[in-house]
Amino acid sequence: MFHRVMEASALTEGAMEVVAIERKRWLIVWPTGDEPRAYRALCPHNESSLVEASFDGRNIVCPHHAWRFEGTSGACVSGQRCDPVRAFPLKIEDGGIFVDVPEKKKREAVASV
Ligand code: FES
Repeated sequence: MFHRVMEASALTEGAMEVVAIERKRWLIVWPTGDEPRAYRALCPHNESSLVEASFDGRNIVCPHHAWRFEGTSGACVSGQRCDPVRAFPLKIEDGGIFVDVPEKKKREAVASV
């Protein structure tokens, strides 16, 4: 289900914003020269929050151990071997940015499998 998370005009190329959906945090990043992307604000290293992460227009940098994740894919590019930051579908429509987050019941069912 898509959730409207912010006005499209509030995001600038090369920047990152933190938004909340259902009391959880998400990163909206716009990599330079690419399209906006949405990621769950959890570091794949140990599920620590990425709310205080930085973004240089290319990579998301975790505030805890400075691992770097590609803004265009979420892939780990720090030299460490790790999973990517979890990406979710994003669309821009009617002047807003929308993120497709699985409904809570579906997420719980998937998590229990
Ligand atoms: S918690 Fe993110 S790099 Fe360690």
